[in-house]
Amino acid sequence: MSVGKKDILETAGINTRLGHLGLDPFANNGFVNPPIVRGSTVLFPSAGDMSRPAGEPSQKYTYGTHGSPTTDALCEAINELEGAAGTVLVPSGLVAITLPLLAYLSAGDHALIVDSVYNPTRVFCDNILKKFGISVDYYDPEIGAGIAALIKPNTKLVHLEAPGSHTMEMQDVRAIADAAHLHGCVVMMDNTWATPVFFRPMDYGVDVVIHAATKYPSGHSDVLMGFVSANETHWPALHQANWQFGMCVTSDDAYQILRGLRTMALRLERHQETALKIAQWLEGRDDVAAVLHPGLPSFPGHAIWKRDFKGASGVFSFVLKESQEQRFKARAHAFLDGLKLFGLGYSWGGYECLAVQSFLGDRTIRKAPKEGPVIRLQIGLEDVEDIIADLERGFAAIGG
Ligand SMILES: Cc1ncc(COP(=O)(O)O)c(C=O)c1O
Repeated sequence: MSVGKKDILETAGINTRLGHLGLDPFANNGFVNPPIVRGSTVLFPSAGDMSRPAGEPSQKYTYGTHGSPTTDALCEAINELEGAAGTVLVPSGLVAITLPLLAYLSAGDHALIVDSVYNPTRVFCDNILKKFGISVDYYDPEIGAGIAALIKPNTKLVHLEAPGSHTMEMQDVRAIADAAHLHGCVVMMDNTWATPVFFRPMDYGVDVVIHAATKYPSGHSDVLMGFVSANETHWPALHQANWQFGMCVTSDDAYQILRGLRTMALRLERHQETALKIAQWLEGRDDVAAVLHPGLPSFPGHAIWKRDFKGASGVFSFVLKESQEQRFKARAHAFLDGLKLFGLGYSWGGYECLAVQSFLGDRTIRKAPKEGPVIRLQIGLEDVEDIIADLERGFAAIGG
């Protein structure tokens, strides 16, 4: 029996897979990349073809919001990477979180959300979900199988994010997923930090994986997008909800993300190497109270990271030691304003270094460290010596 390309890709290395997934050149006149198919209207050859029932269309494409050959190429690549039954593409990473919350929860339901969640997820839960009669409790990221004690008769969904936003706590994904499944809950995880290159949540029992494709898949700080991928059981509800909301992305953006995917593992390797060097360098400084990076043996979640993850991306935080003269905010601002190479910006995953002071004021369990302000760094693809020299400028600005 001859071996096909699909079979080869199933067992190939990550760079090989990223270089070939979603491509079908001979369906595109031999061109390596898929065409950018722009369009809202799709024509049908006859009225009979057009009036077929919704679930049994006469042709693959029926309307622009329901996909194009370009968006399908991206969905196919993500399905393969995540081991998912289906993926929807949405206009931002935040929508990738809010859409499945609305797809799987109904009035009267209860959801458990990790306390170190991406803050806009919390804002959505505390406002929109609450408005629709859905209650939410936040849980300790390091709860593991102990999550069982928080599950109520009406708990329908458990949301994870590891490492946690800004404070980087690791989660025992398998233990949480197993406990949640015993009660029939949907298990959803924000996997933006690791990407499927470093962690595949579905291999650890997660049902629905979300990604801010804005970050590493884009890699160039110029596209906003989210992916939501679901397993066989949970795909129909997600697909239906997406259809009913009319969420979609342009083929131009899908093309850009596909382009980014081809180099994602290579970029991540570099992000990982530089970020770890910088984390180690920061650990040796007297003006740093703690470095929050799962790849450091000193970090409390290190053992779980080492057991379950294949690597670390380029985002981590550190706690700036407070001084007698300068209190939290002033000290963080002085440090950040001393940086010249680092941009001050909220996003991450691009080729350039960014820094931001972490806002942890909404946390109920994993509260802000008392030792000083938390600074989150996104380590870009620049040379490590130049990045360290810039951080030294920041420390010099606070008298370090
Ligand atoms: C962990 C995480 N998830 C989701 C998002 C949302 O992505 P977007 O900015 O595309 O809405 C972000 C954005 O920073 C994030 O950090």
